[in-house]
Amino acid sequence: MIYTRIVGSGSFLPRTVVSNNDLANDLLYRGIHTSDDWIVQRTGIKQRYLAESDIDTSYMAVESAKMALIDSGIDASDIDLIIVATSTPDCIFPSTACIVQSKLNAKHAAAFDLQAACSGFVYALSTADSFICSGKAKNVLIIGSEKFSRILDWNDRSTCVLFGDGAGAFVLTASSDYGILSSCISSDGSMSDILSVSGHFENGNINGYPFIKMDGQSVFKNAVRVLEESAREVCDKACVDIKDINWFIPHQANIRIIKMLGRRLGVEDDKLVITVDKHANTSSASIPLAFNVAKLDGRIKNGDLVLIQGVGGGFTWGSSLVRI
Ligand code: UT7
Repeated sequence: MIYTRIVGSGSFLPRTVVSNNDLANDLLYRGIHTSDDWIVQRTGIKQRYLAESDIDTSYMAVESAKMALIDSGIDASDIDLIIVATSTPDCIFPSTACIVQSKLNAKHAAAFDLQAACSGFVYALSTADSFICSGKAKNVLIIGSEKFSRILDWNDRSTCVLFGDGAGAFVLTASSDYGILSSCISSDGSMSDILSVSGHFENGNINGYPFIKMDGQSVFKNAVRVLEESAREVCDKACVDIKDINWFIPHQANIRIIKMLGRRLGVEDDKLVITVDKHANTSSASIPLAFNVAKLDGRIKNGDLVLIQGVGGGFTWGSSLVRI
């Protein structure tokens, strides 16, 4: 039996930290009213990291990947496949994954981008697991990297206060012992309009709206519902009791979603890894960023059982249950 084991993790955050008060003051110049109180009460977000103009998605991806490779002890030349989950690629093509492959000198790696909005990282993890378990790849680098600040409408207070920039990476390898015990990914395109960036290029022009548009309440309701269903599904598949999971790392979009999910699953608050207060919603980067925080501060240890869950535009969602 081949398992996919997480043998390295890394993360990158831009230098610029913007508190809610800083953001509220900046928005006031545009005539947009918001407050630290509103943002904290409705989302749990206290600050976000925003990438400077010279920092793009591939730069953040490469920095997080370098850290994950060092952590794993695996050389870039031994990576067979690189998957970058992003909705904010440097350009339409080449893929951000190919830019990363070149910058890391990962000369034996195939590379492609994967777009599943905020579920991108769990989709990448599940895809990498299939490559490894089928014997098609031995070492896979997966990265979630986002410069979401590029696609925020700073005149729309209902979305622009919610997101931040950053990147996180895992190095995965084939193992005979343990690793990913079960995974599932799902979608429902009939809900595509509740969270979208509908703009696209046509004949040199942008057609449609090139910023995030969200029906926050629909996203909230559906996120809680599908995350609960998906958590139960991966646990059933692996014959694992939810009570035996050590750490829950759901997509970091809103502390109220995370806590409501925890309550529905009967999970104590201290098993929920929460970084949305510091990072805000970094889309496909949010899970590896949160994982790395909990690993570096000593919470996640070898042998722990971790549930990783994503949800986002598409509508898409998914979960992986992993023995570390
Ligand atoms: O990664 C993708 C996944 N995304 C998510 O998971 C997001 C899910 N949704 C949410 O997190 C929440 O729905 C939001 C945080 C986006 C909004 O919270 P809410 O409790 O659903 O608020 P609301 O949209 O019902 O708005 C309540 C009020 C409105 O004013 P009125 O109509 O009651 O007078 C809004 O205009 O809050 C107002 N409002 C704001 N006020 C101050 C909206 N944004 C802001 C703001 N500052 N930034």
